[in-house]
Amino acid sequence: MANPHSDRPPLRLGILLSGRGSNFLAIAESIRCGRLAGVEIAIVISNVAGAAGLAAGRDLGMATALHISKGRSRDTHDADVLACLREHRVDLICLAGYMRLLSPAFVAAFPDRILNIHPSLLPAFPGLEAQEQAFAYGVKIAGCTVHFVDDELDHGAIILQRAIPVLESDDTHSLAERILAEEHIAYTEAVRMVASGEYEIRGRRFVKRNT
Ligand code: GRF
Repeated sequence: MANPHSDRPPLRLGILLSGRGSNFLAIAESIRCGRLAGVEIAIVISNVAGAAGLAAGRDLGMATALHISKGRSRDTHDADVLACLREHRVDLICLAGYMRLLSPAFVAAFPDRILNIHPSLLPAFPGLEAQEQAFAYGVKIAGCTVHFVDDELDHGAIILQRAIPVLESDDTHSLAERILAEEHIAYTEAVRMVASGEYEIRGRRFVKRNT
């Protein structure tokens, strides 16, 4: 849906996911209810056939595409996904539980235009099972990070983070659940900030411009 308060055409999101897609659905709901104006989802792409998120996108009547990555080289697969994103005139890519590293060519094709969400306060606990890593380490504060994607895993400039206390009563499951609730808020907020264009990246620092 276009932003009625702006002359700009809507920013077209490409969602890449591999699994349940709750972050994708949180973004979709934010758009639907007007929390994320001037943004639309152009295409939902999965690299996994049975991804629940892909089925959810289809059920919502969105354009979806399946590009199975298993058994294919990273470069070949990424070239297909890139072609699909271009075909759907995507401006900004949101990785939403996309369990696949992007090739340098992919990252270079969308410089500072690829966002990822990670369930830890980076740079702590990059990689898989971040919530379990944080819990086992015994941290008192956990959270999530939305960042730009660069060539290193879970590494690019941080757009925003949300933190929560780890409770005495937590186990890895309850902690992961509470982090996920923060992720759903954080991704919408980060997309809104990037969509506004009112920021600069100074070194690693994402700095909001005064409007
Ligand atoms: C989230 O925890 C996200 O931070 C991580 O993968 C998980 C995806 O969950 N990158 P969902 O598919 O969005 O529900």
